Amino acid sequence: MDLRVEGLNVSYDEKRILKDISFNVESGEVVTIIGPNGSGKSTLIKSISRYLKPKSGDIYLNKVNINRINTKEIAKNLAVLPQVKAVSSDISIEELVSYGRFPHLKFGKRMSKEDKEVIAWALEKTGLFKMKDRYVVTLSGGERQRAWIAMTLAQKPKMLLLDEPTTFLDICYQMETLEMVKVLNKTLGITVVMVLHDINQAARYSDKMMVINDGELREYGEPCEIVSKDLLKDIFKIDADIYEDKVNNCPYFIPKKNNGTAGKGLND
Ligand SMILES: Nc1ncnc2c1ncn2[C@@H]1O[C@H](COP(=O)(O)OP(=O)(O)O)[C@@H](O)[C@H]1O
Ligand SMILES: [Mg+2]
Repeated sequence: MDLRVEGLNVSYDEKRILKDISFNVESGEVVTIIGPNGSGKSTLIKSISRYLKPKSGDIYLNKVNINRINTKEIAKNLAVLPQVKAVSSDISIEELVSYGRFPHLKFGKRMSKEDKEVIAWALEKTGLFKMKDRYVVTLSGGERQRAWIAMTLAQKPKMLLLDEPTTFLDICYQMETLEMVKVLNKTLGITVVMVLHDINQAARYSDKMMVINDGELREYGEPCEIVSKDLLKDIFKIDADIYEDKVNNCPYFIPKKNNGTAGKGLND
């Protein structure tokens, strides 16, 4: 499924947050949004998922304006993993994952055999089948994140929006989550648009990277075009050297000692 965003402006009350954002995501791509805190990344994800109404601009899924697609139809195609997730304490993994089927149920109808098969498939794909009866609150961070991804998978989406899916996870679960996203993208052809905090991970796992700063789209392109000394200095306020990761075929950077504004005065 492809995505087109055209001239998007989003405000909270009178405060302009997103300023004239336009871009395309091709079907089957992994696109990662990076940018400093408060730059508007989550706002962009929320706008695409139609959780926020833009002041102006248009968003198209497979060339159709999302305002002309009904909510259930959107939910059948687009799954969203928000940055902040609430879960009631007394549900099992299987129940959580079953929520993913809701957009597919006919009004007043219960789960069909097919729905149950999809839930089992999503549990299997995320390695949770054996523990499907465990309560979500008892899970480790990585397992919980997998349970949420299983729920989005049960939606059988064509596009996945993930807002900082690795935050609060140990490095091993961060890798596990990103590897899983990659497998889902490659084997199921799901288009992925995600926000990541870690620029090196973004460079490693993305076909394209998008840089948002202060509500503006500053750069958009392949990781090797995006990860540059100038970008890191101008947007992220760090001096860094750029290297090539020959194993994963992507750029990575190593920051030098910070002499920018962050932490200034600590050694004075
Ligand atoms: N519900 C809200 N009401 C008012 N301002 C908000 C709201 N949500 C976010 N903002 C503001 O919008 C800006 C962008 O926020 P956000 O999209 O969450 O940034 P990011 O995800 O890049 O950290 C920030 O200045 C934030 O304070
Ligand atoms: Mg955010």
